[in-house]
Amino acid sequence: MCGIVGFTGSEQAAPILLDGLKRLEYRGYDSAGIAVTNDNQINTIKASGQLVNLINKASDSDVSGLCGIGHTRWATHGAPTDTNAHPHISNDRMFAVVHNGIIENYAELRDELIEKGYHFDSETDTEVVVHLLEYYYKGNMRKALIKTVSKLEGSYALGVICSDFPDEIYTAKLGSPLIIGVGVGENFFASDATALISHTKNVIYLEDGEISRITPDKVEVFDCTSATINKTVSRIVWNIESAEKGGYEHFMLKEIMEQPKALESTIKPNIRDGKVNFDGLNDLKSNIKDFTKIVITACGSAYHAGCVGRYVIEELCRLPVQTELASELRYRNPIIDEHTLLIAISQSGETADTIAAMKECKNRGATVLSIVNVVGSTISKLSDFVIYTWAGPEIAVATTKGYITQIAILDMLALWFADNLNLIDEKLYTDLISDIHTLPERVQRALDLNPHITSLAKKCSSNNSIFFIGRNIDYAVCMEGSLKLKEISYIQSESYAAGELKHGTIALIDDSSLVVAASCQEQLFDKMMSNIKEVKTRGANVLAVALEHNSRIYKEADNVLVVPSTNPLLVAIPEIVPLQLFSYYIAKERGCDIDKPKNLAKSVTVE
Ligand code: AGP
Repeated sequence: MCGIVGFTGSEQAAPILLDGLKRLEYRGYDSAGIAVTNDNQINTIKASGQLVNLINKASDSDVSGLCGIGHTRWATHGAPTDTNAHPHISNDRMFAVVHNGIIENYAELRDELIEKGYHFDSETDTEVVVHLLEYYYKGNMRKALIKTVSKLEGSYALGVICSDFPDEIYTAKLGSPLIIGVGVGENFFASDATALISHTKNVIYLEDGEISRITPDKVEVFDCTSATINKTVSRIVWNIESAEKGGYEHFMLKEIMEQPKALESTIKPNIRDGKVNFDGLNDLKSNIKDFTKIVITACGSAYHAGCVGRYVIEELCRLPVQTELASELRYRNPIIDEHTLLIAISQSGETADTIAAMKECKNRGATVLSIVNVVGSTISKLSDFVIYTWAGPEIAVATTKGYITQIAILDMLALWFADNLNLIDEKLYTDLISDIHTLPERVQRALDLNPHITSLAKKCSSNNSIFFIGRNIDYAVCMEGSLKLKEISYIQSESYAAGELKHGTIALIDDSSLVVAASCQEQLFDKMMSNIKEVKTRGANVLAVALEHNSRIYKEADNVLVVPSTNPLLVAIPEIVPLQLFSYYIAKERGCDIDKPKNLAKSVTVE
């Protein structure tokens, strides 16, 4: 997704803007640009492709000045060209704008502006903003910006500069992430904290509908009536090293290795004196008995985490749990009412489909609880209740620590519900709590248990299709294992309920097939052995994922990835680890861009 940055202070803006854009590269982009004010004029440079192209251009151009804005563009309207790159500049060159989001009504605005005599350089939706500013500007930037955004439909995080006010930057927010960084004698804005953390940990989280005016010494926030809003300054809890590679070749490998710590940070604050305690859910306790069903909605890996959570919550709470892809839920006519608890899961807290599904369900009376990894994110603000995963910033597009910490929260939430509904006996509760506490060390063991994984990945890297089969929670783990492989190695893959194979898909199995058989649900192991035999008789090569004490698996599987023995309700967390590493090393062998896979973005803030 697009990333925006802005700076105003006493240092040259261009290097600070370019560094901020570098830290936002992980969001995914295909062009970039900056605009800087100097002596009451605006200088802009833009470049398609990697950020290094812009950096090279900047070194040959005059972009001196102490105030500016920058943008990494993930193309939605118009190809990734220099012309379509942001910032966009007005015909009179008084205004420049950067934008993350989509202006849904840009076509009609474009026609109106062309009729008024404005000419457009680009094919983008964003360019309408800068011409509206020129049209409404009568000397007061705040008024011009309020009038401009009143005409916009859709989503936006806007950064704006005006040559009449060379040390000021303005922002406006609706539906896309935007935070302000508060420094000393300098101030910033950005799409997320990773672009600011090297300058300041003091941030202001902007809400939808808020406008800001930022100078080197002051930050003012207003609502759409121009009334001042008093905002609190929050402090980011993590440090810059968390948002850097720390010696690893890829962010993804670093974040895989950080999983024990991420789990520890997520579990510890939520279990006190042997009980699950979600401080933010105290007001939910009183009405959990009113819920007749739970709907879990999310996208991608967050959805897969929800699929694991569904098994655990249903097993412990005997409440019906539906898992719904947010992109589907938002357009269905779902049976949701005041007796529904909607659990929305999102690492970034900015996924457009998940936000839209939440709004749809809220409108139908649902209570919304979200599980997110980014404090102050749009989804966290939209929810009635929020539980944070304390995984720290996740930079790699392919989520790992974000996914397993979501499952850890869901496991604890299942216990929390069961306990508050008086549905769980003391011993089972205590056993599960102690098992949850051992998850970080089990994940560490899962990281160490398979030294053969790199050679195995090399052998499998030439496959052009890989099946993942499993039953119950293993099937949900297969969904995530398959997605990890697809999104970083570009190998076609499919996750399948093992019991379903015989109903058609087994027709695809032959001696070129590689089948990953997730077999950690011990109560279903015999069934899985039958499925492994089924595919082997048809020539498949089988890579099993099995518990470390399981000796039977070696009779059938060609290769085995080993998982530390874990309670079947909790095993998804250590079980995914070898599959994450398997995908990582296959992608590495195939020379793929692991942290920034083609066509993908870290946070999909558009439909
Ligand atoms: C997972 O590796 C992908 N990056 C993607 O499927 C992601 O999980 C999905 O876009 C949801 O993102 P979110 O958790 O930030 O909402």
